Amino acid sequence: MSFTNAPDLEARAAVVKQDLDNVLHPIVQHKSLEQNQMVIVGGQGSTIVDANGNTYLDAMAGLWCVNIGYGRTELATIAAEQMQQIAYYPHTAMNLPAAELAEKLNGLMGGGYHTYFVNSGSEANEAGFKIARQYQKQERKGEFRYKTVSRYWAYHGTTMSTLAAGGMGERKGKFEPMDGSFVHAAPPACYRCPFGLTYPSCELACVKNMESTILGEGPESVAEVIVEPIMSGMGIQVPPDEYLPEVEKICRKYGILLHVDEVINGFGRTGKMFGHQHYGVSPDIMAVAKGIVSAYLPIAATVVKNEVFQSFYGDAAENRQVAQVNTYGGHPAAAAVAVRNIEIMQEERLADRAAELGAYLMDGLKTLYSRKHVGDVRGKGLLIGVELVLDRASKEPVPAGLIGGVVEFCRDNGVIVGRSGGGVRYSNTITLCPPLVITRGECDRLVEVLDKAMGWLEGKLSATA
Ligand SMILES: Cc1ncc(COP(=O)(O)O)c(C=O)c1O
Repeated sequence: MSFTNAPDLEARAAVVKQDLDNVLHPIVQHKSLEQNQMVIVGGQGSTIVDANGNTYLDAMAGLWCVNIGYGRTELATIAAEQMQQIAYYPHTAMNLPAAELAEKLNGLMGGGYHTYFVNSGSEANEAGFKIARQYQKQERKGEFRYKTVSRYWAYHGTTMSTLAAGGMGERKGKFEPMDGSFVHAAPPACYRCPFGLTYPSCELACVKNMESTILGEGPESVAEVIVEPIMSGMGIQVPPDEYLPEVEKICRKYGILLHVDEVINGFGRTGKMFGHQHYGVSPDIMAVAKGIVSAYLPIAATVVKNEVFQSFYGDAAENRQVAQVNTYGGHPAAAAVAVRNIEIMQEERLADRAAELGAYLMDGLKTLYSRKHVGDVRGKGLLIGVELVLDRASKEPVPAGLIGGVVEFCRDNGVIVGRSGGGVRYSNTITLCPPLVITRGECDRLVEVLDKAMGWLEGKLSATA
């Protein structure tokens, strides 16, 4: 069965039946899949193609991940060549591509880091939690530091511990109760400040709340703080510039490790190679995934400062080694593809491009303030949120069902956009995270379609008023 030429509608129908009869999909309702049977068969640059031959501008880069864009066939060649040489051997031994990738990551961090390989962003954070706990056990013998302090509204992954670390009630509610070793502070979410304050007169109440949370828990019980520099899942929250440096100071003051989640922020997305590099902080632990390989194959990593690495270094009898293993970590084919993915980013200066095109797109999106229901447009680089409200004074969110309508309207007009939250609360921000190769023309089209979608929304809301 091939979709490479003209659309083959018979083949498409067969795939749809095969899928609906056999697949259990993540997070989408199967009933709605029966209506919206999108079968994706191709892609190039920022464009994806479905089995009907329709093209879409993918302003979400898949699931916030195809940073170098679709259709880079040279990556298929690299994977094939590596698999012909050696497809797999466990990472208890060494292999060439994983060593090269770890060296590249170390270089991107300016030196001083070692890398532990895993397969997904969730696992990268999980490994970070465990490394933080093991480090604290080994280094602070009189203490029992096992807690992770996170923020409400955070998303750090889908496994039980990363969900526990996350602060999205809707995402974890069905699996609760969760591990109590994850505690939460208030997020730096200025448009909806949890304290009802305004920056800068707030004097960073969210930082004070982080410190009081740590003091309340007892700093001697806290192993690490995890932060996503620019929070993505709950509608792109860009913190005040001082926020992350202040959080870092608190970590240093109380002997707590700083764990930075760069799963979405990383690899050029925000206009620098990593999100934390906007703020001059130095993570002890960094989780990377998605953009590390632009999703061409699954690979992710937990990158640790050499001071942390040193804690795991010693004679075998000391039993200090990383106390975990995963089958596919450091997979040679995925690592080889990730190395080339990063080279492409560097050759094409995609982080700079994200800064430049992000500013261009942001200017375009700000024209949407002429529309009644656009409450806030915010972001950094090509990570942008457009928060929709019923009216600007009350900031009451546009109901989730209508946000779903906006997303569908855009898709029906050839543009894929995302939405924040877990589908009910705080789900009123349209999220944009396009491939970093998006063109100015495509940015214009995105703004144009969103503008039309705002017209559609105005019509819907005035009809129900
Ligand atoms: C900030 C952040 N961290 C971690 C993850 C988990 O990554 P994965 O889905 O690869 O497990 C995600 C996924 O979207 C994410 O957005």
